[in-house]
Amino acid sequence: MAHIQVDPNPAMSETVDAPAPFRPAVDVARDPTIVPRPDGREATMALLYLSRQTDGEEWRALLTAELPGLDFRTPGEAGDPAEIDAALVWLHPLEELAGYPNLKLVASLGAGVDHVIVARRAIPDGVTVTRIVDPAMTEQMTEWCLMAMLNHLRGWDAYRELHRERRYEERRAPLPRDVTVGIAGLGEMGGHCARVLSAMGYRVCGWSRGPKRREGVACFHGMDRFADFLAPCDVVICLLPLTPETEDLFNAERFARMKPGCFVINAARGRHIVEEDLIAAIDSGRIAGATLDVQRAEPMSGDHPFWYHPRIVTFPHVAAFTVPRTCAPQIAENYRRMRAGEPLMNVVDLERGY
Ligand code: NAP
Ligand code: GLV
Repeated sequence: MAHIQVDPNPAMSETVDAPAPFRPAVDVARDPTIVPRPDGREATMALLYLSRQTDGEEWRALLTAELPGLDFRTPGEAGDPAEIDAALVWLHPLEELAGYPNLKLVASLGAGVDHVIVARRAIPDGVTVTRIVDPAMTEQMTEWCLMAMLNHLRGWDAYRELHRERRYEERRAPLPRDVTVGIAGLGEMGGHCARVLSAMGYRVCGWSRGPKRREGVACFHGMDRFADFLAPCDVVICLLPLTPETEDLFNAERFARMKPGCFVINAARGRHIVEEDLIAAIDSGRIAGATLDVQRAEPMSGDHPFWYHPRIVTFPHVAAFTVPRTCAPQIAENYRRMRAGEPLMNVVDLERGY
């Protein structure tokens, strides 16, 4: 995920299904349980922004507009750790969370929470972790996956080459109804992508942890059905969360069982794929190629073999951005609910890891 400061497409705002505006039922600037500061100043609990990606000013403006009186702090303003009751986190060393004794909420500014789970031991017991679930983000993801898939199926790169050579030549593409697309992960992102592809006429298979029924989607679940799910796929799209079970899932053994000529798309996390095994599978001709929004180490080093591979295209983790404008309402609402003692939205199951 990346965060964008500027709305890339203002026209989208009409179509974005943002959460309804709400009236805060608690005064987030005051908390009667808080002991006044020794210097006599009135103490307030505060929300701390911990992201190396942006300076937080856009979030400050949006969240304080949603929650007047909100005490929003960046690391330079953190002050007394005892005053922090919530943290907004992305790409930040989270070990320091252990130093906030009154923390109640850790909100990931991304859909994925692997960055929080790895720092789990630093998170005090009883803290709730939430993540972003945003239709505007899901739409971006489906759009990116479609782009990667259609580029492959419709021979975009080959036509660009022909164009450069001024050759007016036809290449036949398969009919959508003859293409089987497998989507690993049928959650917010994968479920939406599966619906859209099915509506476009592709044969869609999906794989999840627990059983699912989705119209127009052949659903598989559990590790023991992973090979059956993969077997018929002409294109596989990975939209899984990164957990111990899904790390290194796409390895030499799996590639060897995939349909010859299958194309691999990864928009989830780089660690789902054993990169050297993917390269070997492409070089052997088993796998046709890959489009990878994510890699094991980001940014990729200058000598990473992906840069030089003719059948691999990488993107710098841009498939779906967190858009502060569409996500601020859910962050604000969760902070309000946390202060009011109400159940939170988009809570992460720390045991499951997503
Ligand atoms: P989600 O709603 O939590 O869905 C996760 C899906 O994966 C669920 O269907 C889940 O199965 C399935 N799953 C989890 N563990 C599994 C296992 N061991 N075996 C089989 N299926 C398993 O997540 P999401 O919001 O769709 O996001 C998916 C991931 O996309 C995120 O975790 C993040 O890593 C990535 N992401 C990337 C970008 C980007 O820009 N590249 C942007 C946003 C998100 P159940 O339904 O049975 O639980
Ligand atoms: C991006 O990768 C996210 O998890 O939101």
